[in-house]
Amino acid sequence: EETGKSGYDHYMQKEIYEQPTSLRQCLRGRVDELEGEIVLEELADLAVEGPVQFVACGTSYHAALYGSALLQERGIPAQAFLASEYASERIPVGEDHLVVGVTQSGETADTMRALREASAAGAETLAVTNVVASSAARECDHALYIRAGPEIGVAATKTFASQQVALTALACVIGGGDSREVVRGLRSVPDKVQTVLDESTAREVAAEFVDADAYFFIGRHYQYPVALEGALKMKEITYKHAEGFAAGELKHGPLALVTERTPVFALVTGDGEIARKTIGNVKEVEARGAPVVAVTDGQSDVEQYADHVLRVPTSTPVAAATVANVQLQLVAYWVANMLGRSIDKPRNLAKSVTVE
Ligand code: G6P
Repeated sequence: EETGKSGYDHYMQKEIYEQPTSLRQCLRGRVDELEGEIVLEELADLAVEGPVQFVACGTSYHAALYGSALLQERGIPAQAFLASEYASERIPVGEDHLVVGVTQSGETADTMRALREASAAGAETLAVTNVVASSAARECDHALYIRAGPEIGVAATKTFASQQVALTALACVIGGGDSREVVRGLRSVPDKVQTVLDESTAREVAAEFVDADAYFFIGRHYQYPVALEGALKMKEITYKHAEGFAAGELKHGPLALVTERTPVFALVTGDGEIARKTIGNVKEVEARGAPVVAVTDGQSDVEQYADHVLRVPTSTPVAAATVANVQLQLVAYWVANMLGRSIDKPRNLAKSVTVE
């Protein structure tokens, strides 16, 4: 078992550091640099004529939220559902729908049931999965493999990153008309993730806040699912209270939880309207005395209001979500490590849940 960790202390750590490689693998043969477009040969006969629904659980649900935002931005009606909340008798679904199951294992019972219901209602189904010939891959009309390689740590890391990249590729193919810039941005993700891994100060930030009462994560648009994922990772492996919020929702309730003992991780990339609005929320948090950790590419002036900065390279907005998430993976890992938790096998959790 030790040798499988290639010198790392935990599988989770190894899998975090493997991401540049697993992401390159995900993109291999799928980026046509000359034409500046994405090609997914396995989906050549996929024709999307109506709305797209995503069904998924846990970390994969966060990837699904991200996927639906990508499609919406391309003018395609899309929605993400928690698979356990999806029921074809309550949710309109029919022959004009594409239902995408996002599932690393391809075996999660809730996701499989949702896909089967959608299929019975006449929808076309697509599995976005890591496991070749898994139930999802076999039963769906189409399969898109994320090619992350086996993931041993119960907390999903490299598979989430590969889901993000595969879903971006899918959105480019379904939406069409993406600029060379978007494609180039996607192509650059593995190198940018490598830069984060080489330069991250997440360990120092973790040491600073290992005794915190709770951890909050805020983001907007593509960084909203990343805020949710950052909190889930923290909960899963540290057993401490963590929550992710849409940054704009902070003032509608969660702000009551904020104290000087609850660090707030703010995802602020780019320098546009979204960054500006999130910085407004950062100021609200700062005024209540909470420590702010900005995950930023330095394009905006968020650092002025932050106590700590986790720097990420400048990327396109889509790529920035994958790159920023790596910083949060590292913070959760180091907090759990300092607390001596069972990182690869957290209490009460299973890698693949095959009961509803
Ligand atoms: C379990 C795992 C989570 C995972 C979820 C969905 O609860 O502990 O890490 O996100 O299942 O798994 P899937 O294989 O469908 O992506």
